[in-house]
Amino acid sequence: MDATQNYIQENKQRFLDELFELLRIPSISADPVYVQDMLDTAQKTADFLKEAGADNVEICETAGYPVVYGEKIIDENLPTILVYGHYDVQPPDPLDLWESGPFEPVIKKTEIHPEGAIFARGSADDKGQFFMHLKAFEAMMSAGELPCNVKFMIEGEEEVGSENLGDFVKNNREKLANDVILISDTSLVAKDVPSLCTGLRGLSYVEVKVKGPDLDLHSGLYGGAVPNPINVLCDMIGQLHDENGKITVKGFYDDVIELSDEERAEMAKVPFDLENYKKSIGIKDIQGEEGYVTMERNSIRPTLDVNGIWGGYTGEGAKTVIPSYAEAKISMRLVPGQDPEKITQLFCEHFESIAPDSVEVTTKPHHGGKGYVLPIDSKGYLAAKKAMTHTFGKEAIPFRSGGSIPIVALFEEELGSKSVLLGFGLDSDVIHSPNENFGVFNFYKGIETIPFFFKYFAEA
Ligand code: BES
Ligand code: MN
Ligand code: MN
Repeated sequence: MDATQNYIQENKQRFLDELFELLRIPSISADPVYVQDMLDTAQKTADFLKEAGADNVEICETAGYPVVYGEKIIDENLPTILVYGHYDVQPPDPLDLWESGPFEPVIKKTEIHPEGAIFARGSADDKGQFFMHLKAFEAMMSAGELPCNVKFMIEGEEEVGSENLGDFVKNNREKLANDVILISDTSLVAKDVPSLCTGLRGLSYVEVKVKGPDLDLHSGLYGGAVPNPINVLCDMIGQLHDENGKITVKGFYDDVIELSDEERAEMAKVPFDLENYKKSIGIKDIQGEEGYVTMERNSIRPTLDVNGIWGGYTGEGAKTVIPSYAEAKISMRLVPGQDPEKITQLFCEHFESIAPDSVEVTTKPHHGGKGYVLPIDSKGYLAAKKAMTHTFGKEAIPFRSGGSIPIVALFEEELGSKSVLLGFGLDSDVIHSPNENFGVFNFYKGIETIPFFFKYFAEA
């Protein structure tokens, strides 16, 4: 891979400039105002794929935003790697907290990245990360060192649940056939800790509504005598965890696959500093399920969280009112074994069952997805471990993440292949938040490491 690495060194600055072009387009999948920007981003991604040397580059229609596809098949007898990523990004809100424009990428030095970090929405999640694959591919092609076949599939709806991607995968099994799926859309444990994400959590998401009186009422004339939907909703939400931090939804833990003591001991080796953790996000103390440490609570254990809650009067000053209704968005992060549809149903039944007779409760399920585990004895994991160990100069370790990439479990079901999560982000990238950034070091480390994954996977 010497010629490939030389090519990367010689073209470093251009790679960054090209990424900036992608980052300047506000590809926000959640907001229909950006439909043209979404299509422009797909087109630009396709153009970059073509320039990098891919064949049969296509912008494939789906019921939602298109999937960008491209491939390089050098020999049917060699293994095929399918690279997956997403060109859509989260909305940049709240805008006033950005120190520079979310779609005006700039490089700024930070404490963690003295050599600079790219500040822009999508820099780490996921444009900066999938772009590493395009450039690593370009380098291997230009150097004449591509060791196996590769297919690219970059979608535009990950941040809104990948709801149309399932059909695309089912309808294109042949086209997408592969030996392993390679994804850079996760993080490292720390900048100097080569580490591979071996687990993702699943997701179940439900919106709930508690309705009381038909209209907002005077809280003096009616207060104390009629149900207040916000009080009731808060009380119901309060009942969803017990005093040990366990979720009380009946049957919630039934299918959870518990980790063995060995696996938990392995996890405990991942470096973690509680004081730093608290300081980095400004909390006075941690909390969570009894019997598990922080790193388990946020990765191998299922959760239930309110993501938003509203109702009544929230404007300036005081308005005395008993609201007519209250609503909340509730997410459950799931772990392997748990089925999102079953959990959603259990939740809805349970939530309705704890409602007092005085109110009407309705539930509305949203998108979901299953969790995922990559066995550390799989071919893909071993090749990734070898590649990262090589480019960092120390042994890569496995860890489980708490985030979700819903399509990964479906890939395994539909295509029968494992996904390797070769992510180069950091928790400090603050993806989805204002001032999202991606270390320049991380960007180049990814481009440098990917060709070795190709090499070691092809050799195995
Ligand atoms: N790239 C993230 C997921 C992620 C980040 C996993 C870091 C592990 C470490 C992805 O784009 C994401 O935000 N997923 C959503 C899924 C949802 C929109 C269905 C999530 O986890 O909330
Ligand atoms: Mn992502
Ligand atoms: Mn995301």
